[in-house]
Amino acid sequence: MRKLKNLVLVLAVFSYLTGSAYASEERESRNEVRDTMKQAKAKTRQATRGGLVYKTYCVLCHGLHGDGSARIAKLHSGLNLVIGKQEDTYYEDIIRKGGEGVGRSGFMPTWDDELSDEQISDVVIYLSLVTDPVRRGEVVFKTNCILCHGVNGDGKGRASELYDPPPANLTRSNKNDEYKRSIITLGGAAMGRSEVMPVWGEQLGADEINDVVAYLRTILVIPPTE
Ligand code: HEC
Ligand code: HEC
Repeated sequence: MRKLKNLVLVLAVFSYLTGSAYASEERESRNEVRDTMKQAKAKTRQATRGGLVYKTYCVLCHGLHGDGSARIAKLHSGLNLVIGKQEDTYYEDIIRKGGEGVGRSGFMPTWDDELSDEQISDVVIYLSLVTDPVRRGEVVFKTNCILCHGVNGDGKGRASELYDPPPANLTRSNKNDEYKRSIITLGGAAMGRSEVMPVWGEQLGADEINDVVAYLRTILVIPPTE
């Protein structure tokens, strides 16, 4: 009898301890989510300001999207004005020191005296977003798809209840990239699926569709299909 009492006591203490451990874990993960969202918001604000810096000072040479398709590129056909995906420190270096300062073309000016530290770090964040296909794809997704597929791509968008079959849960898709590219470009009906899945081939460019497919890969909770 006594043994049993002890056991009950031990169990009670154990469940109390693990219970409070879970509670604090939950609190921690809630804090983590809040911090992540705060950081994401701050980053978005910086990127927006950075976009303004870019449009004011950089578009003339690098083109609207950093793709080097500016008029200047046509005048100096020997120059490669494409801004590729690089480390943030590399961006900062060439922006501060200019092309010559890092052993590249002197046509890329130094900006240290013209832009504030804040403007430089903002434009670096802007570049790190626009040169990353996954981040660009996230923007395409959040702009066009979440009403049906949900913010997290889990198929629980606000309009999802209107449709049967419901919008696919894209975090558990067993379709490969090629299939996704096709259904996004041609729409559901052309693939023998629901016509509710719109045709995007006319609204979105092939690059944007590739970007959104790249983003969809990153939200999978099961391994991607080859
Ligand atoms: C007068 C034209 C000109 C302007 C204005 C200009 N750049 Fe450049 N930039 C260049 C050239 C030319 C290169 C390529 C240098 C080379 O290839 O040697 C370059 C290269 C770069 C690179 C390296 C790209 C890579 O992938 O390696 C970055 C980053 C960059 N510029 C950012 C900026 C930013 C940010 C601004 C605006 C604050 C800006 N540039 C304004 C001419 C310009
Ligand atoms: C009006 C609602 C709606 C919008 C907006 C929408 N979809 Fe869909 N989507 C659907 C529905 C419904 C299905 C499921 C079709 C079926 O099962 O027959 C679907 C299916 C898909 C599938 C197939 C997934 C699989 O595993 O089979 C992909 C990929 C997809 N959508 C991507 C997108 C992307 C990317 C966008 C935005 C550019 C988008 N959808 C916008 C309704 C929508």
